[in-house]
Amino acid sequence: MSCIVVVGSINMDLVTLAPRFPGAGETLLGSRFLTAHGGKGANQAVAAARLGASVSMVGALGRDAFGDQLHAGLMREGVDLAHVARIDHECSGSASITVAEGENQIIVVPAANACVTPAQVEAARETIAQADAVLVQLEIPLDAVEATLRLGHLLKVPVILNPAPAQKLPHEWLQLTSYLTPNQHELATVLGEDTHSDFRDLMRRAPGPVVLTRGSEGAWYRDSAQPEPQHQPSFAVDATDTTGAGDTFNGALAVFLHEGLPQAVRKACAAAALSVTRLGAQGGMPQRAELDAFLADGPRA
Ligand code: RIB
Ligand code: NA
Repeated sequence: MSCIVVVGSINMDLVTLAPRFPGAGETLLGSRFLTAHGGKGANQAVAAARLGASVSMVGALGRDAFGDQLHAGLMREGVDLAHVARIDHECSGSASITVAEGENQIIVVPAANACVTPAQVEAARETIAQADAVLVQLEIPLDAVEATLRLGHLLKVPVILNPAPAQKLPHEWLQLTSYLTPNQHELATVLGEDTHSDFRDLMRRAPGPVVLTRGSEGAWYRDSAQPEPQHQPSFAVDATDTTGAGDTFNGALAVFLHEGLPQAVRKACAAAALSVTRLGAQGGMPQRAELDAFLADGPRA
């Protein structure tokens, strides 16, 4: 069984389905509203846990009703929350999500997620030392991200950095990263390059292994064993909600990393495909048996 540590955000997603996106100053009638558990960190933790990994999270929740619900949800998924702080003076993180025309728009308010500290990462040192992989994203303070990269590097535990939402990062951090998992826009931003650059060129410019996600076009990867970018096609499914597809991809990638990068990327693409078939970031994330059956049934690609 893989042991995974996720250092990241936990949000309540406030999801509205609409026929299209409203313009500035416009009011629209939507067709449905739901609250769904989300946050890039929590989503990646749940994705890994459903695939059979033993998962610990480092993060922060407010001491509010959303915090209680999110805490209970992660407990039900079997995620260890010993390193998730409850912050008295803050609300839990939220994400206002509009789903329309097969796309989404998201506004995240970090709230308690902004209280995750390097000290919390350090406090999880023993757990991180025993992990097969660590996952971290950019919805928590950058000093906590840096602490995760440095500790993983020191302990020789692979760290997967999912640079979302995108921001430019110090080059040195990328050298501490075992696997960078951006989409094209995120890779350009992280490297401080033009977002219109060819993605293969961008991949060659990154200092270490890169797994680049391209939505319905699958994923590309390169590392020292595959110095030229390699393509993994996506698995064809009917998409209901693509929110959290990238998180499912990252959680699965961490779980299957020990099978080698090509196999891990293939399984991560399959898990991400299943995830978009249901509403909510965590809605369609497959259990291990469901993923195995999907792969065995010979899906397209
Ligand atoms: O990656 C999807 C996630 O981004 C959502 O669950 C939302 O909470 C935002 O953090
Ligand atoms: Na989904």
